Amino acid sequence: MEPMAAFRSQFECRNDDVFLASFPKTGTTWLKALCHTILHRHDQEEEEDILTKKNPHQVVPTLRVQHLLLSPRRRLMHTHLPYSYLPEEVTRSPAAAAGCRKLVYLARNPKDTVVSMWHFYNQVHKGSAGPLSVERAVESFCSGVMPWGPFYEHVLGYWEESKKRPDEVLFLKYEELCGEPKEQVRKLASFLGRSFPSTTDGSGGGDDDEVEKVLWRSSFGRLKELEVNKYGAVGEQGLHLSHTIYFRKGTVGDWKNYLTSDMARCIDQVTQNKLLGTGLSL
Ligand code: A3P
Repeated sequence: MEPMAAFRSQFECRNDDVFLASFPKTGTTWLKALCHTILHRHDQEEEEDILTKKNPHQVVPTLRVQHLLLSPRRRLMHTHLPYSYLPEEVTRSPAAAAGCRKLVYLARNPKDTVVSMWHFYNQVHKGSAGPLSVERAVESFCSGVMPWGPFYEHVLGYWEESKKRPDEVLFLKYEELCGEPKEQVRKLASFLGRSFPSTTDGSGGGDDDEVEKVLWRSSFGRLKELEVNKYGAVGEQGLHLSHTIYFRKGTVGDWKNYLTSDMARCIDQVTQNKLLGTGLSL
């Protein structure tokens, strides 16, 4: 909490900052890789792609106070904080000021999020108190006892804001990125002010090639196989995490392999209650 509180009170925003936000295990790694690649796609040749040398979490930091970034370039940062906990500097609309600060949120299906979180938790705490059962993980998720707070309030905080300020807050879904990747990446690039040049002859060349390149560079298959992600590791809050932990399956609907129908029904019920009347479906 301490670094978060310091971040909240000390962070100084720039008008061209790009913030990424997500609940843990909803595709943060992918979002970081995609946004970095979109923003820097003209700066780098293949061999200079920083993602071949660093894990996306090292390229796009998840903000803590020590990360008050001094970069002269346009800053790209991430947070797991709920919207209501963001520094006022970030949430205050810069409409009156020059430039336009952007915030991109990525949401994911709750059942896949629980399963991903459950695997992650058991990997991180391997060898300590024994594995957490999937029943306990579901129970905890449904009652809102999660790292970074309750899932639904997290998602809804950003969802409501994206409705109020669509030019400054973009709300994406993991499943839509998987289902219609090109459309979603075009939308993301255009939101970030880095649209792909459009093709006029309808041949699909040019712009399509660039979109595909961004998708390939950020893809699960490519990142998972890179040396840096196969053998690298990161020190996080006293933990030593292998980069492989961030790349498990990267699919939609893996919950079917782990949750009983009762567990799925229980999550669906909470989802229905929490999202009722919000216009959001997950
Ligand atoms: P699974 O556990 O379902 O495989 P986060 O990055 O927020 O920690 O989320 C992790 C989830 O995103 C994991 O889901 C992981 O496999 C998946 N993921 C990581 N990189 C990805 C990528 N480039 N494309 C799609 N999914 C990715």
